[in-house]
Amino acid sequence: MVWSERQRAMLEVMGLRVWSAPAAAEPAVLAAAVADEAVPSAPAASPPAHEDATALTPPVSRRPTPAAQPIAAPVAAPGAVNAAGLDWPALRAAVASCTACALSDSRTQTVFGTGHLQAHWMIIGEAPGEAEDLSGEPFVGRSGQLLDNMLRAIGLSRHAGDTPDPARQVFIANTLKCRPPRNRNPLPDELARCEGFLIRQIELVRPKIILAMGSFAVQSLLRSSAPVGQLRGRVHHYQGVPLIVTYHPAYLLRQLSEKARAWDDLCLALDTVEAAGALAARV
Ligand code: URA
Repeated sequence: MVWSERQRAMLEVMGLRVWSAPAAAEPAVLAAAVADEAVPSAPAASPPAHEDATALTPPVSRRPTPAAQPIAAPVAAPGAVNAAGLDWPALRAAVASCTACALSDSRTQTVFGTGHLQAHWMIIGEAPGEAEDLSGEPFVGRSGQLLDNMLRAIGLSRHAGDTPDPARQVFIANTLKCRPPRNRNPLPDELARCEGFLIRQIELVRPKIILAMGSFAVQSLLRSSAPVGQLRGRVHHYQGVPLIVTYHPAYLLRQLSEKARAWDDLCLALDTVEAAGALAARV
């Protein structure tokens, strides 16, 4: 397999170094070194002596996968805050003053979301952590740095100033707008109550693609408790918008070997949004 410049760049910013097998080795074998990772097995083609290597089996591919059946548009869960019809300023104010669950007692501030309001890409995470609770912006800690690197690798940015093109911009939001104490998992009741805000954010942004990161985003958007590993690798839909399931960046920081799959998910998202754009341009 020959890696394109874009693929190489993407792997490198995600902490994966790649090299091609010598021409004599057929079929061409690709190996990726994961920074700081133990070496579970030697790759078929030896990497440079100074680099650790983890063979990618099966190799990452950009082959489009068949679309899954569209999932019925979720109805807001019972008890969800009612944000229907709110415009951006009203929605922002409603989030900031929300006391629908006990998380409002322990938060420093709410974390509304950030990015371009007409971004083509919408990234949905889980809940603010300590850094986000203090800054008021999603994904500013270590997992946020990884997320920004991954987005940059495919030419996307959360900062509207980086590019005027909405196709290159993202809006980042979480299922919960308040930090759970000690970063514990969101509770079902918290997810249910907060969901009205996320539903309205998605309606207002009207993204061309949604990236659901981690199991809580998946639970909220797809009403599925299946593991991320089972749901990733195909195109789902949320209210008609293509949705790709992928691992949460915090998980990727712990499971470095899964970065290759997350990269595959990004490629699938990119292929999906590009294919939809090409189709729209033809009609
Ligand atoms: N993890 C999330 O899911 N969201 C954040 O904003 C930060 C960490």
